[in-house]
Amino acid sequence: MSSADDTAAPDIVIFGAAGDLSCRKLLPALYMAHMHSRLEPGTRILAIGRQAWSRQQYLDFIDARSPAFIEPAAMDASVWGAFLARLDYIGLDVSDAGAYAALAQRQLSQGLRVFYLATAPSLFARICEHLGSAGLIHEGSRVVLEKPLGTDLASAQAINTAVARHFREDQIYRIDHYLGKETVQNLMVLRFGNAIFEPLWRAPFIKSVQITVAETVGVGSRAGFYDGAGALRDMVQNHLLQLLCIVAMEPPVSLEADDVRDEKLKVMRSLRKMDLAAIGRDTVRGQYGAGVAEGQSVQSYLQEEGVPAGSRTETFVALRAHIDNARWANVPFFLRTGKRMAKRHSQIVIEFSEQPFSIFGSSPHHRPNRLIISLQPEESIHLGMMVKEPGSGMKLHPVELGLDLQSSSDKRRAEAYERLLIDVMKGRLTHFMRRDELEAAWRWVEPILRGWQALEEKPRPYAAGSWGPAASSALMAREGLSWFEES
Ligand SMILES: NC(=O)c1ccc[n+]([C@@H]2O[C@H](COP(=O)([O-])OP(=O)(O)OC[C@H]3O[C@@H](n4cnc5c(N)ncnc54)[C@H](OP(=O)(O)O)[C@@H]3O)[C@@H](O)[C@H]2O)c1
Repeated sequence: MSSADDTAAPDIVIFGAAGDLSCRKLLPALYMAHMHSRLEPGTRILAIGRQAWSRQQYLDFIDARSPAFIEPAAMDASVWGAFLARLDYIGLDVSDAGAYAALAQRQLSQGLRVFYLATAPSLFARICEHLGSAGLIHEGSRVVLEKPLGTDLASAQAINTAVARHFREDQIYRIDHYLGKETVQNLMVLRFGNAIFEPLWRAPFIKSVQITVAETVGVGSRAGFYDGAGALRDMVQNHLLQLLCIVAMEPPVSLEADDVRDEKLKVMRSLRKMDLAAIGRDTVRGQYGAGVAEGQSVQSYLQEEGVPAGSRTETFVALRAHIDNARWANVPFFLRTGKRMAKRHSQIVIEFSEQPFSIFGSSPHHRPNRLIISLQPEESIHLGMMVKEPGSGMKLHPVELGLDLQSSSDKRRAEAYERLLIDVMKGRLTHFMRRDELEAAWRWVEPILRGWQALEEKPRPYAAGSWGPAASSALMAREGLSWFEES
């Protein structure tokens, strides 16, 4: 690999630059970074798509799509014009090795080159190989890989091995945009920057942990991809397990990328493997039927365009996981995610154990102490506590201490993709997944996928606009617990 010139302006090369992710997330994020002077002067954005468009045709295409995904207050015609001036377009088929000459002709930066692969993961190996053959990878190159990386352990390993032929591990940024969310990063500060939580952050003081990522949207236009994946691969293998790791990891030695990622890896490796009995008992698969979502009547998953007749793909998963280590012995972690659920929200609920003895006797109003960390749509932290109800007597009454993170600071809160793109530019790997971490996640998830096949598990139906199948509530009720919104 040839060395890099640190003084040269960077290039960002986006493969799949006319795709959904690029239009809705990447270009708006880069616009915001440009607007706030977070892109180095002279940074070029080289957009690669399959269409044989001129530069102007691509700019018109983007101009018609991306502004709708930028906060209206941040949209400024002259700033947008200056941002578009950074963009160039190259129409090439990424499977065609010869076509990379067109990219080479752009004289890529002698400094930082970021190759952002926003295409299907099945193209990642080929793109890296052709970039390598065309001599376009040098010391200052970094590659960003979108999720989901593979559909099982073997396919993830195959992609990782193919990419590793051309990029060192410290040049590879496996993105999980949940790790770019301010509230997720704040979770580390909450845990390790506040003396009051850490002593209690373990068994037996914590009784259970719930992690929910609920969407109200259906499968939309992604049926082709989604039906081959399902909720376990699409959401649990990456977002939910990453959240679990941040909740459960030991304090890292430092905030250096490998120190944090070493601790997350230990959590992944401590997850108790599920055998067939555990899979039958502790996992719930669901598929949405027709119903009402956000006030609109919506069709069932099976009626969605592109979903094969009789599909058994799950659009909902709830499961109970255990971490076999000293901190978390016997503390169940309940994970849940689904499409077409009652409300869009991502939330972590830490439920503390009851006091061994209460001098107030039993009260119907009594609630356990809970720390509720909301990631979206609101970003907040609430602590559920008991106080005295005003008046004579000593009746207890539940209240919440609340912190709205959005209004807690005047500083602008960048979206996850902007923060992560800037991390890539700065060479900060902490919030990206390392190869061993990703493969450990597949090692835990894959037996569940195989178990469902062996058990011929059919997904349980749930009405669109509900909280999922009744079996999901029953999973909690078995232990005298309930999902937060049901309690
Ligand atoms: N969309 C999201 O919200 C989202 C969220 C998380 C992760 N991701 C991941 O991001 C990646 C992109 O997703 P997406 O939703 O943006 O997909 P998409 O809309 O299908 O976009 C993919 C783009 O890749 C281009 N492409 C496909 N084959 C090509 C080839 N041989 N040569 C050149 N370009 C080619 C497509 O060009 P054509 O337009 O010509 O087909 C398309 O513009 C995937 O890995 C996905 O899993 C997406």
